[in-house]
Amino acid sequence: MKRLEVLELPAEEIAHQKALMHEFAAMENRPHTYCVVTYGCQMNAHDSEKLEGMLTEMGMTKAESRETADFVIFNTCCVRDNAQRRALGNVVWLKELKKERPELMVAVCGCMMQQKGMGEQILRQYPFVDLAFGTHNLYRFAQLMLQAVKSRCRVVEVLDEDEGSIPEDLPVRRSSPHHAYITIMYGCNNFCSYCIVPYVRGRERSRASARIIEEARALKADGVKEIMLLGQNVNSYGLDVEGEISFAQLLAQLDEVGIERIRFMTSHPKDISDELIDVIANSRHICHALHLPVQHGSNRVLVSMNRRYTREQYLARVAAIREKVPDMSLTTDLIVGYPGETEEEFEDTCSLVEAVGYDSAFTFIYSPRIGTRAADMPDQIPEEVSSRRIQKLIAVQKAITHRNYAAYVGQVHEVLVDEASRRDAHQMAGKNAYNITVNFPGSHDLIGQIVRVKITSAGESTLRGEKID
Ligand code: SAH
Ligand code: SF4
Ligand code: F3S
Repeated sequence: MKRLEVLELPAEEIAHQKALMHEFAAMENRPHTYCVVTYGCQMNAHDSEKLEGMLTEMGMTKAESRETADFVIFNTCCVRDNAQRRALGNVVWLKELKKERPELMVAVCGCMMQQKGMGEQILRQYPFVDLAFGTHNLYRFAQLMLQAVKSRCRVVEVLDEDEGSIPEDLPVRRSSPHHAYITIMYGCNNFCSYCIVPYVRGRERSRASARIIEEARALKADGVKEIMLLGQNVNSYGLDVEGEISFAQLLAQLDEVGIERIRFMTSHPKDISDELIDVIANSRHICHALHLPVQHGSNRVLVSMNRRYTREQYLARVAAIREKVPDMSLTTDLIVGYPGETEEEFEDTCSLVEAVGYDSAFTFIYSPRIGTRAADMPDQIPEEVSSRRIQKLIAVQKAITHRNYAAYVGQVHEVLVDEASRRDAHQMAGKNAYNITVNFPGSHDLIGQIVRVKITSAGESTLRGEKID
Protein backbone atom coordinates (compact mmCIF):
# COMPACT_ATOMS: atom_id res chain seq x y z
CA MET A 1 0.00 0.00 0.00
CA LYS A 2 1.31 3.39 -0.95
CA ARG A 3 1.08 6.25 1.49
CA LEU A 4 -0.02 9.61 0.16
CA GLU A 5 2.79 11.61 1.69
CA VAL A 6 6.31 11.17 2.97
CA LEU A 7 6.32 10.29 6.69
CA GLU A 8 8.17 13.37 7.92
CA LEU A 9 8.26 14.45 11.53
CA PRO A 10 6.72 17.90 12.01
CA ALA A 11 9.34 20.68 11.76
CA GLU A 12 8.19 21.92 15.20
CA GLU A 13 9.32 18.63 16.76
CA ILE A 14 12.85 19.04 15.36
CA ALA A 15 12.86 22.71 16.45
CA HIS A 16 11.85 21.52 19.94
CA GLN A 17 14.69 18.98 19.97
CA LYS A 18 17.17 21.66 18.89
CA ALA A 19 15.98 23.91 21.72
CA LEU A 20 16.60 21.01 24.12
CA MET A 21 20.14 20.58 22.71
CA HIS A 22 20.83 24.20 23.57
CA GLU A 23 19.23 23.84 27.00
CA PHE A 24 21.59 20.94 27.61
CA ALA A 25 24.57 23.01 26.42
CA ALA A 26 23.69 25.70 29.00
CA MET A 27 23.68 23.25 31.93
CA GLU A 28 26.55 23.23 34.40
CA ASN A 29 26.56 19.73 35.77
CA ARG A 30 26.75 17.83 32.56
CA PRO A 31 29.32 15.75 30.68
CA HIS A 32 31.63 17.77 28.43
CA THR A 33 33.42 15.23 26.25
CA TYR A 34 32.01 12.30 24.32
CA CYS A 35 33.03 9.15 22.50
CA VAL A 36 30.71 7.42 20.02
CA VAL A 37 31.53 3.75 19.40
CA THR A 38 29.90 2.41 16.24
CA TYR A 39 29.20 -1.14 15.09
CA GLY A 40 27.45 -2.41 11.98
CA CYS A 41 26.71 -1.02 8.55
CA GLN A 42 26.94 2.41 6.91
CA MET A 43 23.42 3.14 8.10
CA ASN A 44 24.71 2.97 11.65
CA ALA A 45 27.85 4.93 10.75
CA HIS A 46 25.61 7.70 9.46
CA ASP A 47 23.39 7.53 12.56
CA SER A 48 26.56 8.03 14.59
CA GLU A 49 27.34 11.14 12.53
CA LYS A 50 23.91 12.42 13.52
CA LEU A 51 24.62 11.60 17.18
CA GLU A 52 27.89 13.52 16.93
CA GLY A 53 26.03 16.39 15.28
CA MET A 54 23.57 16.53 18.17
CA LEU A 55 26.35 16.15 20.76
CA THR A 56 28.16 19.09 19.20
CA GLU A 57 24.99 21.20 19.39
CA MET A 58 24.73 20.10 23.01
CA GLY A 59 28.04 21.81 23.68
CA MET A 60 30.12 18.67 23.93
CA THR A 61 33.45 17.94 22.26
CA LYS A 62 35.01 14.72 21.06
CA ALA A 63 37.21 13.06 23.70
CA GLU A 64 40.80 12.09 22.96
CA SER A 65 39.97 8.48 23.77
CA ARG A 66 37.26 6.23 25.12
CA GLU A 67 39.08 6.07 28.46
CA THR A 68 38.97 9.83 29.03
CA ALA A 69 35.45 10.63 27.78
CA ASP A 70 32.76 11.88 30.20
CA PHE A 71 30.11 10.21 28.05
CA VAL A 72 30.42 7.01 25.98
CA ILE A 73 27.66 5.86 23.66
CA PHE A 74 27.58 2.50 21.86
CA ASN A 75 25.65 2.49 18.60
CA THR A 76 25.07 -1.23 18.24
CA CYS A 77 24.39 -3.80 15.51
CA CYS A 78 22.69 -7.19 15.89
CA VAL A 79 22.80 -8.58 12.35
CA ARG A 80 24.99 -11.47 13.51
CA ASP A 81 25.62 -12.86 16.96
CA ASN A 82 29.29 -11.85 16.97
CA ALA A 83 28.39 -8.21 16.23
CA GLN A 84 26.08 -8.18 19.21
CA ARG A 85 28.52 -10.01 21.49
CA ARG A 86 31.32 -7.62 20.63
CA ALA A 87 29.14 -4.61 21.44
CA LEU A 88 27.94 -6.05 24.74
CA GLY A 89 31.49 -7.11 25.65
CA ASN A 90 32.66 -3.54 25.27
CA VAL A 91 29.74 -2.16 27.25
CA VAL A 92 30.65 -4.49 30.11
CA TRP A 93 34.27 -3.36 29.90
CA LEU A 94 33.08 0.15 30.77
CA LYS A 95 31.63 -1.16 34.01
CA GLU A 96 35.17 -1.35 35.40
CA LEU A 97 35.98 2.14 34.17
CA LYS A 98 32.86 3.43 35.85
CA LYS A 99 34.01 2.02 39.18
CA GLU A 100 37.04 4.30 38.94
CA ARG A 101 35.10 7.26 37.56
CA PRO A 102 31.51 7.17 38.86
CA GLU A 103 30.61 10.36 36.97
CA LEU A 104 31.13 8.56 33.62
CA MET A 105 27.86 8.34 31.67
CA VAL A 106 27.20 5.28 29.49
CA ALA A 107 24.54 4.95 26.78
CA VAL A 108 23.53 2.17 24.40
CA CYS A 109 21.48 2.69 21.23
CA GLY A 110 20.99 1.28 17.76
CA CYS A 111 19.66 -1.94 16.28
CA MET A 112 20.47 -4.24 19.21
CA MET A 113 18.26 -2.14 21.49
CA GLN A 114 15.37 -2.57 19.11
CA GLN A 115 15.21 -6.36 19.68
CA LYS A 116 12.37 -7.74 21.79
CA GLY A 117 13.02 -7.58 25.50
CA MET A 118 16.33 -5.73 25.18
CA GLY A 119 15.11 -2.67 27.10
CA GLU A 120 14.22 -4.84 30.11
CA GLN A 121 17.46 -6.79 29.78
CA ILE A 122 19.52 -3.60 29.91
CA LEU A 123 17.63 -2.42 33.00
CA ARG A 124 18.09 -5.77 34.71
CA GLN A 125 21.57 -6.92 33.70
CA TYR A 126 23.46 -3.73 32.95
CA PRO A 127 22.86 -1.41 35.90
CA PHE A 128 25.79 0.81 34.93
CA VAL A 129 24.08 1.85 31.66
CA ASP A 130 22.52 5.29 32.22
CA LEU A 131 20.63 5.70 28.97
CA ALA A 132 19.32 3.34 26.29
CA PHE A 133 17.18 3.97 23.22
CA GLY A 134 16.43 2.40 19.85
CA THR A 135 16.61 3.30 16.17
CA HIS A 136 13.21 5.01 15.90
CA ASN A 137 13.83 7.69 18.51
CA LEU A 138 17.40 8.71 17.71
CA TYR A 139 16.14 12.24 17.07
CA ARG A 140 14.98 12.44 20.70
CA PHE A 141 18.52 11.91 21.97
CA ALA A 142 18.90 15.41 23.49
CA GLN A 143 15.58 15.07 25.32
CA LEU A 144 16.57 11.69 26.76
CA MET A 145 20.02 12.91 27.78
CA LEU A 146 18.54 15.94 29.46
CA GLN A 147 16.14 13.71 31.35
CA ALA A 148 18.94 11.37 32.45
CA VAL A 149 21.27 14.18 33.59
CA LYS A 150 18.56 16.21 35.34
CA SER A 151 16.87 13.32 37.13
CA ARG A 152 20.08 11.37 37.76
CA CYS A 153 17.95 8.32 37.00
CA ARG A 154 18.39 5.72 34.32
CA VAL A 155 16.39 6.34 31.16
CA VAL A 156 15.34 3.59 28.76
CA GLU A 157 13.08 4.40 25.81
CA VAL A 158 12.57 1.98 22.94
CA LEU A 159 9.69 2.69 20.56
CA ASP A 160 8.06 -0.36 19.10
CA GLU A 161 7.24 1.32 15.80
CA ASP A 162 7.13 -0.19 12.37
CA GLU A 163 6.73 3.14 10.66
CA GLY A 164 8.89 5.59 12.56
CA SER A 165 8.62 9.09 11.13
CA ILE A 166 11.54 10.59 9.25
CA PRO A 167 13.42 13.34 11.07
CA GLU A 168 14.71 16.01 8.65
CA ASP A 169 17.31 18.68 9.41
CA LEU A 170 19.05 17.00 12.30
CA PRO A 171 22.58 18.31 12.78
CA VAL A 172 25.26 16.02 11.30
CA ARG A 173 28.96 15.96 12.09
CA ARG A 174 30.53 14.35 9.03
CA SER A 175 33.50 12.10 9.61
CA SER A 176 35.14 13.24 6.37
CA PRO A 177 35.23 16.61 4.58
CA HIS A 178 35.06 15.08 1.11
CA HIS A 179 32.78 12.04 1.59
CA ALA A 180 29.19 12.14 2.75
CA TYR A 181 26.36 9.72 3.37
CA ILE A 182 22.82 10.53 2.33
CA THR A 183 20.04 8.30 3.65
CA ILE A 184 17.43 7.97 0.93
CA MET A 185 15.19 5.47 2.69
CA TYR A 186 14.77 3.83 6.05
CA GLY A 187 13.72 0.28 6.89
CA CYS A 188 13.23 -2.88 4.87
CA ASN A 189 10.17 -4.82 3.66
CA ASN A 190 11.94 -7.87 2.34
CA PHE A 191 12.05 -10.20 5.32
CA CYS A 192 14.80 -12.45 4.05
CA SER A 193 14.34 -15.50 6.29
CA TYR A 194 17.69 -15.13 8.11
CA CYS A 195 17.67 -11.37 8.64
CA ILE A 196 16.84 -9.29 11.71
CA VAL A 197 17.04 -5.89 9.98
CA PRO A 198 13.32 -5.55 9.10
CA TYR A 199 12.47 -6.19 12.77
CA VAL A 200 14.85 -3.56 14.13
CA ARG A 201 14.59 -0.90 11.41
CA GLY A 202 10.88 -1.14 10.59
CA ARG A 203 9.12 -0.87 7.21
CA GLU A 204 10.42 0.96 4.16
CA ARG A 205 10.05 4.73 4.35
CA SER A 206 11.46 6.87 1.55
CA ARG A 207 12.59 10.43 2.06
CA ALA A 208 11.19 13.07 -0.27
CA SER A 209 13.32 13.29 -3.42
CA ALA A 210 13.30 17.09 -3.15
CA ARG A 211 14.93 16.81 0.30
CA ILE A 212 17.57 14.41 -0.99
CA ILE A 213 18.48 16.65 -3.92
CA GLU A 214 18.57 19.71 -1.69
CA GLU A 215 20.95 17.85 0.65
CA ALA A 216 23.18 16.82 -2.27
CA ARG A 217 23.36 20.43 -3.49
CA ALA A 218 24.32 21.64 -0.02
CA LEU A 219 27.02 18.96 0.20
CA LYS A 220 28.42 19.96 -3.18
CA ALA A 221 28.56 23.58 -2.06
CA ASP A 222 30.43 22.33 1.01
CA GLY A 223 33.13 20.76 -1.17
CA VAL A 224 32.03 17.13 -0.93
CA LYS A 225 33.46 14.99 -3.74
CA GLU A 226 31.65 11.73 -3.14
CA ILE A 227 28.20 10.83 -1.85
CA MET A 228 27.00 7.42 -0.77
CA LEU A 229 23.24 6.95 -0.95
CA LEU A 230 22.01 4.66 1.80
CA GLY A 231 19.11 2.28 2.14
CA GLN A 232 18.68 -1.43 2.89
CA ASN A 233 17.23 -1.83 -0.58
CA VAL A 234 17.75 1.38 -2.54
CA ASN A 235 16.12 -0.05 -5.66
CA SER A 236 12.72 0.13 -4.04
CA TYR A 237 13.19 3.83 -3.27
CA GLY A 238 10.00 5.83 -3.77
CA LEU A 239 7.70 2.84 -4.20
CA ASP A 240 6.06 3.47 -0.82
CA VAL A 241 4.97 7.03 -1.63
CA GLU A 242 2.30 8.05 -4.12
CA GLY A 243 3.75 10.07 -7.00
CA GLU A 244 7.40 9.82 -5.88
CA ILE A 245 10.08 9.28 -8.53
CA SER A 246 11.88 5.92 -8.90
CA PHE A 247 15.44 5.20 -7.76
CA ALA A 248 16.64 5.34 -11.37
CA GLN A 249 15.07 8.80 -11.78
CA LEU A 250 16.51 9.94 -8.47
CA LEU A 251 19.98 8.87 -9.61
CA ALA A 252 19.56 10.69 -12.91
CA GLN A 253 18.60 13.89 -11.04
CA LEU A 254 21.48 13.54 -8.61
CA ASP A 255 23.87 13.07 -11.51
CA GLU A 256 22.87 16.59 -12.61
CA VAL A 257 23.89 18.08 -9.27
CA GLY A 258 27.50 17.64 -10.34
CA ILE A 259 29.11 15.95 -7.33
CA GLU A 260 32.09 14.04 -8.76
CA ARG A 261 31.14 10.63 -7.47
CA ILE A 262 27.85 8.98 -6.62
CA ARG A 263 27.69 5.57 -4.96
CA PHE A 264 24.77 3.71 -3.43
CA MET A 265 24.07 0.68 -1.32
CA THR A 266 22.50 -1.76 -1.05
CA SER A 267 20.85 -2.95 -4.26
CA HIS A 268 18.57 -5.94 -4.06
CA PRO A 269 19.09 -8.08 -7.18
CA LYS A 270 15.35 -8.69 -7.61
CA ASP A 271 14.76 -4.99 -8.29
CA ILE A 272 17.66 -4.02 -10.57
CA SER A 273 15.70 -2.51 -13.46
CA ASP A 274 16.85 -1.96 -17.03
CA GLU A 275 16.04 1.70 -16.48
CA LEU A 276 18.54 1.75 -13.61
CA ILE A 277 21.25 0.08 -15.66
CA ASP A 278 20.67 2.62 -18.47
CA VAL A 279 20.90 5.54 -16.05
CA ILE A 280 24.23 4.25 -14.74
CA ALA A 281 25.52 3.65 -18.26
CA ASN A 282 24.59 7.18 -19.37
CA SER A 283 25.58 9.05 -16.24
CA ARG A 284 28.66 11.17 -15.72
CA HIS A 285 29.11 10.71 -12.01
CA ILE A 286 27.71 7.34 -10.94
CA CYS A 287 30.62 5.06 -10.12
CA HIS A 288 30.90 1.81 -12.00
CA ALA A 289 30.86 -0.19 -8.81
CA LEU A 290 27.84 -2.20 -7.77
CA HIS A 291 27.38 -4.10 -4.53
CA LEU A 292 24.84 -6.76 -5.46
CA PRO A 293 24.47 -9.25 -2.60
CA VAL A 294 23.56 -12.67 -3.96
CA GLN A 295 23.78 -14.48 -0.58
CA HIS A 296 23.74 -17.97 -2.10
CA GLY A 297 24.18 -19.93 -5.32
CA SER A 298 21.58 -22.65 -4.82
CA ASN A 299 17.98 -22.16 -5.92
CA ARG A 300 16.60 -24.25 -3.07
CA VAL A 301 18.41 -22.07 -0.57
CA LEU A 302 17.46 -18.83 -2.36
CA VAL A 303 13.76 -19.79 -2.18
CA SER A 304 14.08 -20.69 1.48
CA MET A 305 15.87 -17.39 2.11
CA ASN A 306 12.95 -15.55 0.47
CA ARG A 307 15.32 -13.69 -1.86
CA ARG A 308 12.84 -13.82 -4.75
CA TYR A 309 15.31 -14.46 -7.56
CA THR A 310 16.89 -17.61 -8.91
CA ARG A 311 20.53 -18.20 -9.65
CA GLU A 312 19.70 -17.96 -13.36
CA GLN A 313 17.84 -14.67 -12.95
CA TYR A 314 20.72 -13.24 -10.98
CA LEU A 315 23.24 -14.28 -13.63
CA ALA A 316 21.00 -12.80 -16.32
CA ARG A 317 20.98 -9.45 -14.47
CA VAL A 318 24.75 -9.56 -14.20
CA ALA A 319 24.97 -10.22 -17.95
CA ALA A 320 22.63 -7.28 -18.66
CA ILE A 321 24.74 -5.02 -16.47
CA ARG A 322 27.99 -6.12 -18.10
CA GLU A 323 26.55 -5.61 -21.56
CA LYS A 324 25.74 -1.95 -20.89
CA VAL A 325 28.51 -1.17 -18.42
CA PRO A 326 31.38 -3.50 -19.38
CA ASP A 327 33.77 -2.24 -16.71
CA MET A 328 31.27 -2.54 -13.82
CA SER A 329 33.05 -3.78 -10.71
CA LEU A 330 30.75 -6.18 -8.89
CA THR A 331 30.96 -7.10 -5.22
CA THR A 332 28.65 -9.22 -3.09
CA ASP A 333 27.65 -10.69 0.26
CA LEU A 334 27.61 -14.45 0.77
CA ILE A 335 26.25 -16.64 3.56
CA VAL A 336 27.50 -20.16 4.26
CA GLY A 337 25.97 -22.68 6.66
CA TYR A 338 22.35 -21.64 6.11
CA PRO A 339 20.03 -24.28 7.69
CA GLY A 340 19.99 -27.48 5.66
CA GLU A 341 22.81 -26.36 3.33
CA THR A 342 24.24 -29.52 1.75
CA GLU A 343 27.78 -29.87 0.44
CA GLU A 344 26.40 -29.68 -3.07
CA GLU A 345 24.44 -26.51 -2.35
CA PHE A 346 27.54 -24.94 -0.87
CA GLU A 347 29.41 -25.84 -4.06
CA ASP A 348 26.68 -23.98 -5.97
CA THR A 349 27.73 -20.82 -4.14
CA CYS A 350 31.38 -21.43 -5.10
CA SER A 351 30.48 -21.98 -8.75
CA LEU A 352 28.29 -18.86 -8.84
CA VAL A 353 31.15 -16.82 -7.42
CA GLU A 354 33.35 -18.18 -10.21
CA ALA A 355 30.70 -17.48 -12.83
CA VAL A 356 30.27 -13.84 -11.82
CA GLY A 357 33.91 -13.11 -11.05
CA TYR A 358 33.36 -10.55 -8.28
CA ASP A 359 36.12 -8.07 -7.50
CA SER A 360 35.59 -8.91 -3.83
CA ALA A 361 33.02 -10.40 -1.49
CA PHE A 362 31.97 -10.26 2.14
CA THR A 363 31.54 -13.80 3.43
CA PHE A 364 29.51 -14.61 6.53
CA ILE A 365 28.74 -17.72 8.53
CA TYR A 366 25.00 -17.93 9.01
CA SER A 367 24.04 -16.75 12.48
CA PRO A 368 20.56 -17.61 13.80
CA ARG A 369 18.65 -14.50 14.93
CA ILE A 370 15.78 -14.98 17.35
CA GLY A 371 12.42 -14.16 15.81
CA THR A 372 13.51 -14.76 12.20
CA ARG A 373 12.11 -17.67 10.22
CA ALA A 374 15.42 -19.40 9.56
CA ALA A 375 16.26 -19.57 13.27
CA ASP A 376 13.49 -22.13 13.77
CA MET A 377 14.39 -24.25 10.76
CA PRO A 378 15.65 -27.82 11.24
CA ASP A 379 19.17 -28.90 10.23
CA GLN A 380 21.15 -26.00 11.63
CA ILE A 381 24.70 -26.52 10.37
CA PRO A 382 27.44 -27.33 12.91
CA GLU A 383 30.11 -24.68 13.40
CA GLU A 384 32.95 -26.96 12.15
CA VAL A 385 31.17 -27.51 8.84
CA SER A 386 30.44 -23.80 8.34
CA SER A 387 34.02 -22.87 9.23
CA ARG A 388 35.44 -25.30 6.72
CA ARG A 389 33.07 -24.03 4.04
CA ILE A 390 33.80 -20.38 4.64
CA GLN A 391 37.54 -21.02 4.46
CA LYS A 392 37.08 -22.67 1.10
CA LEU A 393 34.81 -19.88 -0.18
CA ILE A 394 37.29 -17.22 0.95
CA ALA A 395 40.04 -19.05 -0.97
CA VAL A 396 37.90 -19.24 -4.10
CA GLN A 397 37.15 -15.50 -3.95
CA LYS A 398 40.76 -14.61 -3.14
CA ALA A 399 41.96 -16.22 -6.36
CA ILE A 400 39.35 -14.31 -8.37
CA THR A 401 40.22 -11.01 -6.67
CA HIS A 402 43.85 -11.66 -7.52
CA ARG A 403 43.00 -12.32 -11.16
CA ASN A 404 40.72 -9.27 -11.48
CA TYR A 405 43.13 -6.92 -9.76
CA ALA A 406 46.00 -8.11 -11.97
CA ALA A 407 43.87 -7.11 -14.97
CA TYR A 408 43.75 -3.52 -13.65
CA VAL A 409 47.54 -3.20 -13.95
CA GLY A 410 48.43 -0.77 -16.74
CA GLN A 411 45.11 1.11 -16.53
CA VAL A 412 44.83 4.73 -15.43
CA HIS A 413 42.36 5.22 -12.57
CA GLU A 414 40.95 8.35 -11.00
CA VAL A 415 41.67 8.20 -7.28
CA LEU A 416 40.00 10.31 -4.59
CA VAL A 417 42.85 10.75 -2.12
CA ASP A 418 41.79 9.99 1.47
CA GLU A 419 44.86 10.01 3.66
CA ALA A 420 48.55 9.38 4.01
CA SER A 421 49.45 5.76 4.61
CA ARG A 422 49.87 4.97 8.29
CA ARG A 423 53.23 3.34 7.65
CA ASP A 424 54.76 5.89 5.29
CA ALA A 425 53.83 9.60 5.22
CA HIS A 426 54.95 9.88 1.58
CA GLN A 427 52.49 7.23 0.47
CA MET A 428 48.94 8.38 -0.22
CA ALA A 429 45.88 6.13 -0.11
CA GLY A 430 42.54 6.68 -1.80
CA LYS A 431 39.76 4.92 -3.65
CA ASN A 432 39.34 4.51 -7.37
CA ALA A 433 35.85 4.65 -8.91
CA TYR A 434 35.60 0.87 -8.41
CA ASN A 435 35.92 1.47 -4.67
CA ILE A 436 39.29 -0.30 -4.49
CA THR A 437 42.05 1.22 -2.37
CA VAL A 438 44.96 2.54 -4.44
CA ASN A 439 48.32 3.46 -2.86
CA PHE A 440 50.79 5.73 -4.59
CA PRO A 441 53.73 8.02 -3.70
CA GLY A 442 52.46 11.57 -3.20
CA SER A 443 52.18 14.53 -0.88
CA HIS A 444 49.63 15.60 1.75
CA ASP A 445 48.25 18.47 -0.31
CA LEU A 446 46.61 15.89 -2.58
CA ILE A 447 44.23 14.78 0.18
CA GLY A 448 40.64 15.46 -0.88
CA GLN A 449 41.57 15.74 -4.57
CA ILE A 450 40.84 13.37 -7.42
CA VAL A 451 44.08 12.49 -9.21
CA ARG A 452 45.01 10.20 -12.08
CA VAL A 453 47.06 7.18 -11.09
CA LYS A 454 48.59 4.58 -13.38
CA ILE A 455 48.21 1.16 -11.77
CA THR A 456 51.57 -0.61 -11.59
CA SER A 457 50.89 -3.63 -9.40
CA ALA A 458 48.16 -5.45 -7.49
CA GLY A 459 48.23 -6.57 -3.86
CA GLU A 460 45.79 -8.87 -2.05
CA SER A 461 43.16 -6.24 -1.42
CA THR A 462 44.70 -3.04 -2.78
CA LEU A 463 46.29 -1.65 -5.93
CA ARG A 464 49.51 0.29 -6.21
CA GLY A 465 50.38 2.94 -8.77
CA GLU A 466 52.05 6.15 -9.78
CA LYS A 467 50.44 9.54 -10.14
CA ILE A 468 50.44 10.91 -13.67
CA ASP A 469 49.67 14.49 -14.73
N1 SAH B 1 20.11 -4.91 2.97
C1 SAH B 1 21.30 -5.49 2.57
C2 SAH B 1 22.18 -6.10 3.62
C3 SAH B 1 21.95 -5.93 5.05
S1 SAH B 1 22.82 -6.93 6.17
C4 SAH B 1 20.97 -6.53 1.53
O1 SAH B 1 19.88 -6.97 1.40
O2 SAH B 1 21.89 -6.94 0.87
C5 SAH B 1 24.38 -7.20 5.40
C6 SAH B 1 24.68 -8.63 5.12
O3 SAH B 1 24.73 -9.38 6.31
C7 SAH B 1 23.67 -9.36 4.28
O4 SAH B 1 23.83 -9.10 2.93
C8 SAH B 1 23.92 -10.80 4.62
O5 SAH B 1 24.88 -11.36 3.77
C9 SAH B 1 24.49 -10.72 6.02
N2 SAH B 1 23.55 -11.26 7.00
C10 SAH B 1 22.34 -10.77 7.34
N3 SAH B 1 21.77 -11.55 8.28
C11 SAH B 1 22.65 -12.55 8.53
C12 SAH B 1 22.64 -13.67 9.41
N4 SAH B 1 21.60 -13.93 10.20
N5 SAH B 1 23.73 -14.47 9.42
C13 SAH B 1 24.78 -14.23 8.62
N6 SAH B 1 24.84 -13.20 7.77
C14 SAH B 1 23.79 -12.37 7.73
FE1 SF4 C 1 17.94 -8.07 5.46
FE2 SF4 C 1 17.02 -8.95 3.17
FE3 SF4 C 1 16.26 -6.56 4.06
FE4 SF4 C 1 18.74 -6.92 3.23
S1 SF4 C 1 16.90 -7.08 1.97
S2 SF4 C 1 18.11 -5.89 5.09
S3 SF4 C 1 19.18 -9.01 3.84
S4 SF4 C 1 15.78 -8.53 4.98
FE1 F3S D 1 23.56 -4.02 11.85
FE2 F3S D 1 21.45 -2.52 12.05
FE3 F3S D 1 23.08 -2.23 10.02
S1 F3S D 1 21.55 -4.67 12.53
S2 F3S D 1 23.93 -4.25 9.72
S3 F3S D 1 23.58 -1.87 12.10
S4 F3S D 1 20.87 -1.95 10.01
